Amino acid sequence: MKVLIVGSGGREHAIAMAVAKSPKVDKIYCAPGNAGIAAQAECVPITAMEFDKLADFAQEQAIDLTIIGMDDPLVGGIVDVFEARGLRVFGPRKNAAILEGSKAFSKELMKKYNIPTAGYETFDDADAALAYLETVKLPIVLKADGLALGKGVLICNTLEEAKEGVKEIMQDKKFGTAGNRMVVEEFMTGREVSVLSYVDGKTIKIMSSAQDHKRAKDGDQGLNTGGMGTFSPSPFYTKEVDEFCKKHIYQATVDAMAAEGREFKGIIFFGLMLTEDGPKVLEYNARFGDPEAQVVLPRMKNDIVEVMEACIDGKLDTIDLQFEDNAAVCVVLASDGYPVSYKKGYPITGFEKFEGRDDRFCYHAGTAFNDKGEIVTNGGRVLGITATGADLKEARANAYAATEWISFENKYMRHDIGKAIDEA
Ligand code: AMP
Ligand code: GLY
Repeated sequence: MKVLIVGSGGREHAIAMAVAKSPKVDKIYCAPGNAGIAAQAECVPITAMEFDKLADFAQEQAIDLTIIGMDDPLVGGIVDVFEARGLRVFGPRKNAAILEGSKAFSKELMKKYNIPTAGYETFDDADAALAYLETVKLPIVLKADGLALGKGVLICNTLEEAKEGVKEIMQDKKFGTAGNRMVVEEFMTGREVSVLSYVDGKTIKIMSSAQDHKRAKDGDQGLNTGGMGTFSPSPFYTKEVDEFCKKHIYQATVDAMAAEGREFKGIIFFGLMLTEDGPKVLEYNARFGDPEAQVVLPRMKNDIVEVMEACIDGKLDTIDLQFEDNAAVCVVLASDGYPVSYKKGYPITGFEKFEGRDDRFCYHAGTAFNDKGEIVTNGGRVLGITATGADLKEARANAYAATEWISFENKYMRHDIGKAIDEA
C-alpha cells in the first residue's frame, strides 16, 4: 500500500512511525512533513490546506490511504474533497469535524443528548455577552467558537478580566473569525485526562488514556501552549471513571452525531475533567492530540493501518484494540521563548542515539534541513522525546535521561512532566 499523511508536527511523526510498522505498507508520503518525518516518508511540498493539490497528488501517485493528522484541514472539509474524487481517506467529513470546529455546536450537542459538560451560554453579540457576565459566578471561562490553535480559551477570575476577554475575542478579534461567536462556560475544577478513540460511524474503541501539560512553565505556570509533555496511561483514569464515561459519554457522543446526520468516522479526542460530580467533557477534538499521540501510539499493539481501514469501512467492531501493559512519557523540547517569540535555525545534534530503538523515540515537530543539509530548529515545539518503561516512573526517568541526548542552542523544556504521577 501507499499511504499519504497530511501534517507536519510531532503527531504526524508518531503516525508515520506507526504506519511504517505496518506490513501492509510499502511507501509513505507526508505533506508537508518535516526533517524527522523524512526518515520514514517522502516529504511532499504541499501544505495541509491545499486540498485540490493534495487530492491531485493522491490520484497521480495512486495513494491507497490518506490520513489527515491536523484539525484545520478536517474542519475545512478535506475529507469531502478526497471522497468526491473516490479517494480513501481517514478522518471525519466537514459536517462531523464541526465537533471540534465549533464549540457552540459541541456544547449544544452535549446539552441535547445529556452528555455531562459544564453549564454554558452562547453569544453572537458582545453586548449580550457583557450583560450576561454581570450575572455569573467567578471564575468564568470564555471560549472563542472556532479553531484558535488551542489558545481561544480564557479563564477569568474577575469581572474586569472577563469583560476585557469578551472585547478581545468578539470585538478586537484576537482569534480572528473564531471569535464571531463565543461560549461562556462555568469553571470546573479537577484533573484533566485526554482519551483518544477510533470511531467508524457506529462503533467506538477507546485508546489508553493520557494527560497533557498545556502551560509553558513548571508548576503549570506561564502561557497556554500546544502541549509541553504527556504521559500515558493516566493513573487517575480509574475503572470507575472508565465505566462512567462508557455509559454516559463515549457511545453517547457517537450516537448523537449519527442521530444529527453527521456520522463521525475518524478519531474523537475527549478532553475530560474529573470533577467532584463525575467526569465531564471539556472539549472534543476530531484528531489525535499532539503530544498525546506521541505517548499513546508507541503503546498500541495493533497495525494502525488495519484499524483506520476498519473505521473507513464501518468494521471497527471486528478489531480487538490492544495496548502494551507499560507506560510512556513524552517531554517536549521547545525553543526558549515559546509560545511568544523565539529564534529558529539552530543546528540540532544527538539524533543517532535514538536510531533503531523501540523504547526511545525522538519525534520531530518544528525541524527543517538548512542549506548545508543539517537538521535545525524550525518552530516553537522542536522535538518530542518519548520513552517507555515498565511503569510511569520508569518511563519518566527514561524520557528525561533521553532529553540529555539532544543538544541545540536555546533548548527549553519543562522539568515536571508527569509530576502528578507521584500523587496518584
Ligand atoms: P479547551 O481548548 O476547551 O480544552 O480548553 C483549554 C484548557 O482550558 C483546558 O485544557 C482546561 O485546562 C481549561 N478549561 C477549558 N474549559 C474549562 C472549564 N469549563 N473549567 C475549567 N477549565 C477549563
Ligand atoms: N494536546 C492537546 C491537543 O492536541 O489539542
